[in-house]
Amino acid sequence: AELKLWGGRFTGATDPLMNLYNASLPYDKKMYAQDLEGTRVYTMGLEKLGLITAEELKEIHRGLAIIHEEWKENKFVEKDGDEDIHTANERRLGEIIGRNISGKVHTGRSRNDQVATDMRLYVRDELKKLKGYLKTFIETMIKRAEEEVSILMPGYTHLQRAQPIRWSHWVSMYATYFTEDYKRLEQIIERLNYSPLGSGALAGHPYGIDREFLAQELGFNGVIGNSLTAVSDRDFVVETMFWSSLFMNHISRFSEDLIIYSSGEFGFIKLADAYSTGSSLMPQKKNPDSLELLRGKSGRVFGSLAGFMMSLKSIPSTYNKDMQEDKEPLFDSMLTVEHSILIATGVISTLQPNKDKMFEALSMDMLATDLADYLVRKGVPFRETHHISGECVRAAEENKLSGIDQLTMEQFKSIDERFENDVFETFNFEQSVERRDATGGTAKVAILKQLKALKTTLDQ
Ligand code: ARG
Repeated sequence: AELKLWGGRFTGATDPLMNLYNASLPYDKKMYAQDLEGTRVYTMGLEKLGLITAEELKEIHRGLAIIHEEWKENKFVEKDGDEDIHTANERRLGEIIGRNISGKVHTGRSRNDQVATDMRLYVRDELKKLKGYLKTFIETMIKRAEEEVSILMPGYTHLQRAQPIRWSHWVSMYATYFTEDYKRLEQIIERLNYSPLGSGALAGHPYGIDREFLAQELGFNGVIGNSLTAVSDRDFVVETMFWSSLFMNHISRFSEDLIIYSSGEFGFIKLADAYSTGSSLMPQKKNPDSLELLRGKSGRVFGSLAGFMMSLKSIPSTYNKDMQEDKEPLFDSMLTVEHSILIATGVISTLQPNKDKMFEALSMDMLATDLADYLVRKGVPFRETHHISGECVRAAEENKLSGIDQLTMEQFKSIDERFENDVFETFNFEQSVERRDATGGTAKVAILKQLKALKTTLDQ
């Protein structure tokens, strides 16, 4: 039978299916670099304790570098009995430098603190990469919003036309959501960046290893203060998947808006061919598949979060094999998010807004609030003006007019004496939008101010 790392007390062979069921190498080999780096630093700690000599350390580091090269060049040969990335790397190290030396590497270490360390390093690297992509995505949106700030469109509540807004206000809304995601990402990276290494299997290190040194060498901000926590904590996995789920939720709503806006009935935007596909049957079709996938994949990412929360909820302290189930959902979530950011960036940088269609979709009844505000400026209480404006809308409807702007001065006067000739100046979309210049509003200055604030956040 093959030699197992933990084979000493076992006599019977493992059920072959159990070997497959147990093995995590197929997916945790993604962390080969982090695993080798953890061992490189850990053995420096051992050398400081005199548990290995300087020559042995050099040999170990030489071996680790070779293994790194093998993985990188796709030349690492996996063998039966390579249960996970940790056992595979250690087995290979023995083949290269001899078991006499490689056999000392794991002194005082457990795969429990090892895997917790690898995972934190891996997630940290991945999240930093996502941060870069996310920044580019947001910057792309900001640029569009700045360039297209003159375009007007209907703003909606309940998917009913509500008030005119600028197209850039819509873009800036999502840029604001994604900037919050960006900030949240930074906080998660900061929180997970503490070292479990040197905690042993659970109880701590028996030779007094310098954990602060190990942490510092690995770029951690410090150590996790309790060895039991260090090996059992997967909150950073949960947080990363929650972050991914929330981000995908934002992406999904963003996509849903664009799917609606790209429909024939709306025609507000045209998706680039690069992000659309055709129908195998209907020659005229151009479908927004990219957006539908962005929307659809949000379900899968949330499923990963929910699934792992279930796995985690009843695990007794400290390490249990259930925890190996953290990897596949986490890796899948991070990869899905990565691809989604890149696709969404492509979509937003290539779509074409149709400003005529957007303008045509504005209707005069969307200025009913502005009509109420007109009387407010003449000193009438808003609750009253709201009612009066409503009567104007009804009068226009009853007289089958195309909008409230078509009422005559006499008709206005008959509804309320306080209407004057300047009421007709109200019926101007551009002016309606420009009035909303308080912070956060849809006036040009207000939008440019929002975009500037987002840029400042991103550049911090
Ligand atoms: N492959 C394992 C995991 O991902 C490594 C830790 C194994 N530890 C143990 N005590 N069996 O969780």
